[in-house]
Amino acid sequence: MITASETKLPRISTALPGPKSQLVIDYDKKYMSPSYLRDYPFVAERGYGAIVEDPDGNAFLDFAAGIAVCSTGHCHPKVVEAIQKQAAELIHIAGNDFYHRHMPQLAERLVKTMPKPQDYRVFFGNSGTEAVEGAIKLARYATRRDKLIAFYGCFHGRTLGSLSLTASKNTQRKGFGTLLGGVEHIPYPYAYRCALGHTKETCGGEIIELLEQQIFKRLFAPEEVAAIIVEPIQGEGGFIPAPSFFLQELQRICNRHGIVLIVDEVQAGMGRTGKWWAYEHAGITPDIVLTAKGIASGMPISAFIAKESIMQWKPGAHGTTYGGNPVCIASALATMELIEGALMANARKVGDYVFGKINDWPQRFKIVGDVRGKGLMIGVEFVRDQKTKEKASDLRDRVIDNAFHRGLLTLGSGENSIRLSPPLIIDEEQADCAIRIMEESIREAEKNL
Ligand SMILES: Cc1ncc(COP(=O)(O)O)c(C=O)c1O
Repeated sequence: MITASETKLPRISTALPGPKSQLVIDYDKKYMSPSYLRDYPFVAERGYGAIVEDPDGNAFLDFAAGIAVCSTGHCHPKVVEAIQKQAAELIHIAGNDFYHRHMPQLAERLVKTMPKPQDYRVFFGNSGTEAVEGAIKLARYATRRDKLIAFYGCFHGRTLGSLSLTASKNTQRKGFGTLLGGVEHIPYPYAYRCALGHTKETCGGEIIELLEQQIFKRLFAPEEVAAIIVEPIQGEGGFIPAPSFFLQELQRICNRHGIVLIVDEVQAGMGRTGKWWAYEHAGITPDIVLTAKGIASGMPISAFIAKESIMQWKPGAHGTTYGGNPVCIASALATMELIEGALMANARKVGDYVFGKINDWPQRFKIVGDVRGKGLMIGVEFVRDQKTKEKASDLRDRVIDNAFHRGLLTLGSGENSIRLSPPLIIDEEQADCAIRIMEESIREAEKNL
């Protein structure tokens, strides 16, 4: 229920950024690290539903959702209530040293999303990168092997271990010296740019061959490989889904050689694609699943869910002070209830509705090369020329900026794509509004061709 001062759709009443927003931007410049990205000057003041307002009273339709974090929208009343109640009861107790019922409660909830719940155990952290770090350690510990295989274009985080797996943009790695040894990257199946002309269903067979016939024979013997880590849909890399057969082949290879298959669902998971996990669309059974972002509607918590047969480390082998914080868990439990109750189905329904209206963008707009994704994980790739597929990051940036000035928040992804990752609560009216703004923004950018 929205109140009289609230809205479901954008409302822009000042030049952007407005004067109060500008004050925050100037203040921020004085004290904050320059490494933050801030592609356009949006300042957040308060949020409700799929709307976030700036200090000048402008209301934006949020199709970024804090990088796919605010799955239930901003400040969902049930999430707020759960956080407030828990904050009044117990804020912190260090799950590393003491028990509290909330940890097994959320763990039980999470393993119930897995193919065989009784086979899995859970470790909580605070961020996506911590889930990745923990999974690397666990895979190495369990296999007593140290080599890791990851994919070009994938993003797994910014701490030194996860950064060693990340191969998205060189600015994320440049200047930080030698990273973790024993990591090899191989191409990710990218159907739109498949050199062999394969489709979204068939692209990637040559990568499997590369792995088995080249990497395993010339670089790392498979019995030295601890884990293969993959995003089932690349997030930061351009919202690129891996074909089902490709994920199935990775599973086959891992099973054959005793390699741990780690599926990074930090961005794609938590109902966004219409199922709990994006890997479910491929019918595989990963050894370790990583989650963060959408799990708690904005409260910082992450988890890795690992097969019990793998999670056999000794007390003290891994730990954390804050991971599994009771307030974050309360938020996660409320979030998961909402996702299961209706939002996962809504992501599927509204996602299908959006794709039904934008699948023909490459026919309608000269600068749109590809539209792809699943559910409410929607990627749009921009090119200067549909025949040569020359990447047009400048035009992509213009579309993002044009949309911002019309009241729609989006984010770039990959070199030349836009990601649309709204809260899972959006309805068709809000989807229509975002589609209209995107179409106007693309049309305006096309004038710069
Ligand atoms: C797939 C994936 N893995 C890991 C991470 C790292 O998460 P965090 O920024 O919470 O450390 C991200 C963040 O964007 C991500 O998209």
